Amino acid sequence: MRDATKIIRSTLTRSAPGEPLHSGPVFAAPYHTPGDPTGTPYTYARSHNPTWTSLEKAIGQMESGEGYRASALVFASGMAACSAVFGAVLRPGDVVVLPSNAYYTARVLMQEYFTKMGVVLRMAPTAGNAQVELLEGARLLWLESPSNPGMEICDIAMLSEAAHRAGALVAVDNTTPTPLGQLPLALGADFSVASDTKAMTGHSDLLLGHVAVRDLELRAQIDQWRTLTGAALGPMEAWLALRSIATLPLRLERSCENAQRIAEFLTTRNEIVSVLYPGLPNHPGHDIAKKQMRYFGPVLSFILRDKSAAETFLANSKLLTDATSFGGVTTTAERRARWGGDVIAEGFIRMSAGCEAVEDLIEDIAQALDAVR
Ligand SMILES: Cc1ncc(COP(=O)(O)O)c(C=O)c1O
Repeated sequence: MRDATKIIRSTLTRSAPGEPLHSGPVFAAPYHTPGDPTGTPYTYARSHNPTWTSLEKAIGQMESGEGYRASALVFASGMAACSAVFGAVLRPGDVVVLPSNAYYTARVLMQEYFTKMGVVLRMAPTAGNAQVELLEGARLLWLESPSNPGMEICDIAMLSEAAHRAGALVAVDNTTPTPLGQLPLALGADFSVASDTKAMTGHSDLLLGHVAVRDLELRAQIDQWRTLTGAALGPMEAWLALRSIATLPLRLERSCENAQRIAEFLTTRNEIVSVLYPGLPNHPGHDIAKKQMRYFGPVLSFILRDKSAAETFLANSKLLTDATSFGGVTTTAERRARWGGDVIAEGFIRMSAGCEAVEDLIEDIAQALDAVR
């Protein structure tokens, strides 16, 4: 089956006469558990929930590829998913190699907490596969491609191979492309991690994340971390996510097409200092991105001359919702430097293309750029 069919069918409940196509969320803390609990499929909500099971089955199928079956675990947020990999894998004295431009909060978590508990941190930028030089003796290589918000690309297959040779496990933060846009496990990674708050669910109304693995021993470690730390997803969120992912193929195709068209349009405008989108042939990571991605993603970044140009642009736009996060059906944009933390220009805009008519978006962007001039 092709992706769209596979994903839509995977969200259906078991087919039985009189049963709904999609069963509702299961709200339960304890479950009836008489006597010996071994073999009781559900006992207590921090460990498992039938609505999680349905969502995990659908995500696991999406993360599976040629010759392997993936298994997914859902979490209360993308950061809970990232923390689970850090916490389950790393021990004092272990070396972790992290992109210096990895998602800000993941970097802060590593710098402010894990290093203080004895984990040794080595960092290099995503572009240029610079992590390859830092792998000797490492326990975990963490990658993010495209990186957020700089849209830098690294070669996941090449780096995974090098990391495995050095004895390290590999995790990829795959939030921007989703598993439909890029399959880290097929490229050799051990963990595919994502914030499903973004394009995976796509309606800007949920907070959740997942970790997918091929190896069942790693799955057990991540599962134990989730139960011990209580990073449990609510059943209502799990159910809404299951409902949302059925439209991922439609949403992703449209938003990535819109992102490409907007990126190409921006390159024609004098007000733009540079456009950062891996789908553009002159992006330094374009060839690698073409090799490892099925969609280049809904997120694009671009740089205007300064803070005031970026603020004027956003204030004059009527269709770009000024908000953080990305991956929703609504096109959003923000001046990223307002948050601090990333090494980026004051005029840096991160945009997430939604599913509106691209002609309307481009007309709006054009008139907002006129105001900047
Ligand atoms: C690349 C990336 N990874 C992880 C996260 C964390 O996800 P969440 O906000 O769902 O905890 C984010 C959130 O913006 C992100 O952009």
